[in-house]
Amino acid sequence: EAIEKGGYDHFMLKEIYEQPKSIRDTLRGRLLPEQGLIKMGGVFEYREKIVNAERIIIIGCGTSWHAGLVAEYLFEDLARIPVEVEYASEFRYRNPVITEKDVVIAISQSGETADTLAAIKLAKEKGATIFGICNVVGSSIARETHAGAYTHAGPEIGVASTKAFTAQVAVLALMALRIAHDRGVLKQSYYHQLLTELDSIPEKIEKMLESDAQARHISELYKDAQNFLYLGRGFNFPVALEGALKLKEISYIHAEGYPAAEMKHGPIALIDENMPVVVIAPKSGQYEKIVSNIQEVKARNGKVIAVVSNGDSEIARMADHVIEIEETAEVFSPLLTTIPLQLLSYHIAVMRGCNVDQPRNLAKSVTVE
Ligand code: G6P
Repeated sequence: EAIEKGGYDHFMLKEIYEQPKSIRDTLRGRLLPEQGLIKMGGVFEYREKIVNAERIIIIGCGTSWHAGLVAEYLFEDLARIPVEVEYASEFRYRNPVITEKDVVIAISQSGETADTLAAIKLAKEKGATIFGICNVVGSSIARETHAGAYTHAGPEIGVASTKAFTAQVAVLALMALRIAHDRGVLKQSYYHQLLTELDSIPEKIEKMLESDAQARHISELYKDAQNFLYLGRGFNFPVALEGALKLKEISYIHAEGYPAAEMKHGPIALIDENMPVVVIAPKSGQYEKIVSNIQEVKARNGKVIAVVSNGDSEIARMADHVIEIEETAEVFSPLLTTIPLQLLSYHIAVMRGCNVDQPRNLAKSVTVE
């Protein structure tokens, strides 16, 4: 096992560090920025269906559902197709309205999650076209769907998903860009700029991994907290959910992810000097809004750990700690902002003496309903 961990203390840490490679593997042969092309043979067998879709329904569970939420922002913003993201377990039991015109994208690392599989079967019976995004080749979900794309993240052993999540987001970004291009809804120059930008993400993730020492330092300070709040807006709202889930899963600290603007409708009541608040706040269209969210937390003596754009001195003056991310397009920022949150949850869990790779009560693949 020590050999399998490749010198890392845990599989989870190894998998976090593998992300530059797993994203490169996932993009390889698909993203061709010099030619201005995205090639996804498996998905575009059903090109007409997905390019002309009037809506897309995305289903998944756990972390895969969070990747679906990122995709909602990607598909709506870039490809201008309305998207609904559903927990597979809720979707399947509520007599959903599905027709032959619908396109469903099922996301699953293992390809074996029982609820996701059952939701696929239901949508298929109603005539929808189903695309799968799986990591495990030949898995049940990969076999049950009409078409799809594999993430090439390699085997993920740690129960808490890390590299599979970013690989899912990378595949979804490719799909959104290609569909946007085929629909003719993106300015050519912007499309080319995004292809080049996506190509540079693995390198930027490498840089993000250098925030490890900082994440460790912050973990020392907050490892004994009983609660954590994670806030984000827009593309980084799902990242807040995912950050909170990671912490819950492996450190057993209660953590909630929230859209930052919703803080005033509830979570703000919880903020005092004992509440660490992780705010994902890279420069974006909603930057000023999130700055005022940080002020609201500080006004109540909450502790702010902010994930910000490189060189952001405004938030640095207000927050207790900042972790900087490399400059990138807003649409791809989740691929970078996720990394320090993974590291933070990892270090906190290790410091609390938790079994990082096999947290209590959780399973890597949930094949029961
Ligand atoms: C379990 C795992 C999670 C995972 C979820 C969905 O709860 O512990 O890490 O996100 O199942 O799994 P899937 O294989 O469908 O992505």
